[in-house]
Amino acid sequence: MPQNPAYLFVCLGNICRSPLAEGAMRLAAERAALDIAIDSCGTAAYHVGEPPDPRSVEVAAANGVDISGLKGRQLDREDFARFTHIFAMDHQNLRNIEAVRPPNATAEVMLLLDVVEGREGAAIADPYYDGEESFEATWEDVWAAAEALAVGLTRSG
Ligand code: 4NP
Repeated sequence: MPQNPAYLFVCLGNICRSPLAEGAMRLAAERAALDIAIDSCGTAAYHVGEPPDPRSVEVAAANGVDISGLKGRQLDREDFARFTHIFAMDHQNLRNIEAVRPPNATAEVMLLLDVVEGREGAAIADPYYDGEESFEATWEDVWAAAEALAVGLTRSG
């Protein structure tokens, strides 16, 4: 029996991009009435236990999803068995994920934008050192991916 879909979104700090991706996926899944597991984490431990960056919280709220209650956590080896898919925001995240991938990993690991037609192989830029407009661009990227994932699941389900 195939496992139920379980999606993990991964960036560096788990305070800017991946919490937005988690929020976008929660919203897309709710709208499409999909019952899937969704989480996010960072490859680094800098922000473990912290809420998302206020700029991410704001752009998520403006788009209809509350991510203020999320807490940063670091990727761990069990994630490779717990999730069916692990989505990296950029190429460095992808390398960092592959570096800790255990031999018995079952999760498929890929760039998040690989699921968006025409954006395959592209990175979602880190908005941490940039202005608020960058967070809007991040939202557009993660929303495009969340919609594509939801459409894929609706077709396959
Ligand atoms: P994120 O952004 O990986 O999208 O959460 C960053 C957050 C924090 C840092 C870097 C990127 N940092 O260096 O603390």
